[in-house]
Parts: sequence; C-alpha cells; structure tokens
Amino acid sequence: MKNRFLIQTVSIFCISLGYATAQTGTLAVTPPMGWSTWNHFHHDISDALVRAQADALVSSGMRDAGYVYVNIDGGWEGYRDASGVLHPNPNFPDMRALGDYIHSKGLKFGLYTGPGPTTCAGAPASYGHEAQDAKMFASWGVDYLKYDLCSFRGIMQRESNGDLQKSDAIMKAAYQTMHQDLLATGRPIVFSMCQYGWGKVWEWGPEVGGNLWRTTGDISDNYGRMTSIGFREAGLSRYAGPGHWNDPDILEVGNGGMTPDEERTHFTLWAILAAPLIAGNDLTQMSAVTRSILMNKEVIAIDQDPLGKQGDRAHATGPLEVWTKPLQGGAMAVALFNRSSEPASMTLELASIGWQGQATVRDVWNHTDLGIVNDHSTVIVPRHGVVLLRLSKPGQ
Ligand code: GAL
Repeated sequence: MKNRFLIQTVSIFCISLGYATAQTGTLAVTPPMGWSTWNHFHHDISDALVRAQADALVSSGMRDAGYVYVNIDGGWEGYRDASGVLHPNPNFPDMRALGDYIHSKGLKFGLYTGPGPTTCAGAPASYGHEAQDAKMFASWGVDYLKYDLCSFRGIMQRESNGDLQKSDAIMKAAYQTMHQDLLATGRPIVFSMCQYGWGKVWEWGPEVGGNLWRTTGDISDNYGRMTSIGFREAGLSRYAGPGHWNDPDILEVGNGGMTPDEERTHFTLWAILAAPLIAGNDLTQMSAVTRSILMNKEVIAIDQDPLGKQGDRAHATGPLEVWTKPLQGGAMAVALFNRSSEPASMTLELASIGWQGQATVRDVWNHTDLGIVNDHSTVIVPRHGVVLLRLSKPGQ
C-alpha cells in the first residue's frame, strides 16, 4: 500500500515535471521569428489588415524562411465589461476566428497586453485580471504574449514609496504572476517581456518565465537610433540561450528610413545578437532589396544557429567594430561593421578573434566563397555598412 502510494506520488511528480519542461523547455529554442503590427502600422490596425499581412507572410516566402509569429501589438483592445471580460475593439470582431485563420496558414498567433491597469496607449490591460485574460487568450489560440510594463510603473512607484529594490521586486512579481497564469492555461505560450531593460532584466528574466525580454527602449526607423540600441548590447551575450533571449526590439527593415547598407547592418547585428527576428514592415509592399535582406537564408541561419549562442563585440577601433558569434561545429560568424560616414578598409586578423589556424571563409551577403585565409584578410566596408563572413575549419 505504502509502495503503491510512493509509486503514484513519484509518477504524479514526474508527470508534472514533464509538463513543466514541456512548457519551458520547448518554447523559443531558437530566437522567435515573425512579424508585428507595431513598427509600421502602430494603432492603425484591424482584423482585415492582420489577415492580409498573414497572407503576405505566406505568399512572399517569409513564412517558409522562418517568420511564423503574427503579433498583434497595442491597438486591438476595446473595453473591460462588468464581469471583467476584456473585449477587443470593433476593428477586431472575432479574435478566435482571427486566431483560427492565422493557424490555418501554418502561422502562430501573438498578442499584446501588460501588467498595468492600462497599456501605454490608455487601453485596458491585465492588472487584477491576469488569470482571466490568460485563459481567454489561450481560448483564442494565442501562442505568444508580449507583456508591456507601461502604466504598471505608476503602481511600482506608489507601492514602493521610492524604494528601488522594492519597486524592482514588485515588477518581477507582476511578470511572475502572468507567467504562472499562462502556464496554468496548459497552452504553450511564448512570454515576451517588455519593460525596456529596467533592473537589468537579462539577469532575472528567465526566473520569471521570460522567453525573451526587451533590453532597451523603443527602436525607430533611422540608423542613429538603430545602432545606438544594437551596439549597446555588447556584453549581454552570456545571458541569452535556448528558451531565453535578449530582445533589442522589432526590425525596421523595409520601413524606408535607412539605406540598404544601413539595413544590412541592422539585420546582421540582430543575427549576430541571436535576437528575435520580428519584421516590422508592410509585407504587402516589399521591394526586392527588402526581400533580399529579410529573406537572406544564410544570415537567418546565423541568427537561428542551433548552438544558441549570442555573439558579442570582439574588438573595436573607433567606428570600426568586429563582432563574432560562435556557430555549431566550430564555425564562427564574423561581422565587420563600419559605423563611420566614409567607406573603410578593414583587416580581419584571425588571431584577434581567437581563431586558431586557417579558415575557410564565405562572404555571406554576397553569397561567395572567398577561399582559405591563412592569418588575415582585408575587405572594403561601405559607410554605415557591414561585411559578414562565415568562418569554418578547412575540410569541414
Ligand atoms: C511600447 C513598446 C512598443 C509598443 C508600444 C505600443 O511601450 O515598447 O514596442 O508595444 O508600447 O503602444
């Protein structure tokens, strides 16, 4: 009898352990890829627009290149009724049907709310209704939830009386609450934390269930802002790995504010950072250049490399920066960035990035093999541009 009880208890424990692992261990094994309404459309969104973008994800080849999440950011919310149910606004007549449509295309459904009483735009968010909202999102088929701090900052200030440690603890608890409520739904839902990097979130994001966390304030569609947040990620590589990623924000590729070289810098840097690749452009209006950047399979493969290691800055001389990312099988991605406003000649010394012996080198953006390099290689890098190389051991 005693034994039977023991066996039962152990198996229940194992089942629940298996469940917890299934929830946390299989989500975002590589950095999530998809599309978001935010950077291009802001609050001007609707069911019809989201369906059209989902269609374009498929017809453009983006889905097959790996972009599967269709993320509705702020702007879908309507009102919360007397029984606490959160309703979408009239632009989104039936969220469940929209979720079904997204799934029918082989895509996944992402949604946005936050721990505060309201979102940044003043729409109702999940404060005090976390479990109820999580259940409803799961019933709509949501696969990814972005949880944006916004008005919760007011609650942190009020309840901590200016004590920063206490304020951070209140913030962590709010993320943990929603994480637990998502787990309780039984639906695997990627948890995307958005609190702009406050309190060094990379140090505690995984503890509160974050699969990714924003490390910075918002990106905007210009080279200055994009590089200021992207290059500031130096030093964060050790905090990322399968299931938990640093997120320097949604991509601006294809939105018109950057030159092709600047956009290649943007996409390369995000790939080196093993950042989530969430496109933020209008997928129904993509130029050939935009397509060639967003769907460059070799660059995407660097971002999605199964080793799951984020890259980092190896060294920099003024505006000329060399970043490296370890890849599976002993290979390495090396990005030579020229942040100056003139073209520059840059020499890669293999020893300076810790590479032993010779390397077989491929120019990733040009899709050309450069042959075997013995100790150094010199390339011309355009202004605000990049040369991205893939190094492997000769014969491999
Ligand atoms: C910001 C967030 C953006 C976007 C926006 C929506 O706080 O950083 O990524 O979600 O809210 O209002």
